[in-house]
Amino acid sequence: MSLRVVFLGPPGAGKGTQARQLAHEWGVPQVATGDMLREAVANTTPLGLEAKRYMDSGGLVPDAVVIGLVGERLAKPDAAPGCVLDGFPRTVAQAEALDRLLAQRGETLHAVVFFDVSRPELLRRLTGRRTCRQCGTGFHLVSAPPKVAGTCDTCGGELYQREDDAEATVGKRLDVYAKETAPLVAYYEREGVLRNVDASGPAAEVYAAIQRTIGKVAA
Ligand code: AP5
Repeated sequence: MSLRVVFLGPPGAGKGTQARQLAHEWGVPQVATGDMLREAVANTTPLGLEAKRYMDSGGLVPDAVVIGLVGERLAKPDAAPGCVLDGFPRTVAQAEALDRLLAQRGETLHAVVFFDVSRPELLRRLTGRRTCRQCGTGFHLVSAPPKVAGTCDTCGGELYQREDDAEATVGKRLDVYAKETAPLVAYYEREGVLRNVDASGPAAEVYAAIQRTIGKVAA
């Protein structure tokens, strides 16, 4: 069995939350460009230093940088049976690069899952998000609160609010999404792989909807 899917949707739609669980269930890596870039920033690598200025302002990191990162990641042996791409592609140029990358490897996408969530709900999810500094587990102050305020249930690490979840930056990220990423809905509709999921309900319901969708397309 293999599973190669893209999770597409606006900031805060719940892509990371669902990608972690689906990747775990299928035994394939979650390839999350946002997480990879945040790790590079935390390690102050040259790539991280370049990426930081784009991320802090809510803009996109240049295509060439992100395409290079994903190309290297997909070449690793654990990605041979598939992957859950979370936050990539985000521009038409990235989607075309992914098509080329997969074609070179004789692979195809099974599905692109589009997360449909209203703007007010996105704002609620983004402003309440907290993340563990140590293990990266995600929480939400209202929908998925930690047992002890400020502390990760999984590893006891400190929870923090992402810098780009500040109100002013969130607005910019949503605008960038509408301009650069939303056109991918039509792109993947044309390729015949787009699957819409109503992602506005509780996380468990969204996961069940994704499983139903994936069950129909996974090879
Ligand atoms: P990235 O980290 O990818 O951010 P994003 O796409 O904006 O997505 P988020 O992580 O904000 O949201 P999510 O959909 O994963 O939601 P989550 O599951 O956390 O990218 C960050 C930056 O990196 C970009 O702005 C850009 O600069 C750069 N970058 C990354 N990829 C790039 C690329 N390909 N090209 C160029 N630049 C790139 O959920 C959010 C909150 O809601 C959580 O608190 C969660 O607990 C809660 N929640 C989740 N599901 C539910 C639910 N069903 N009900 C209630 N609450 C829920």
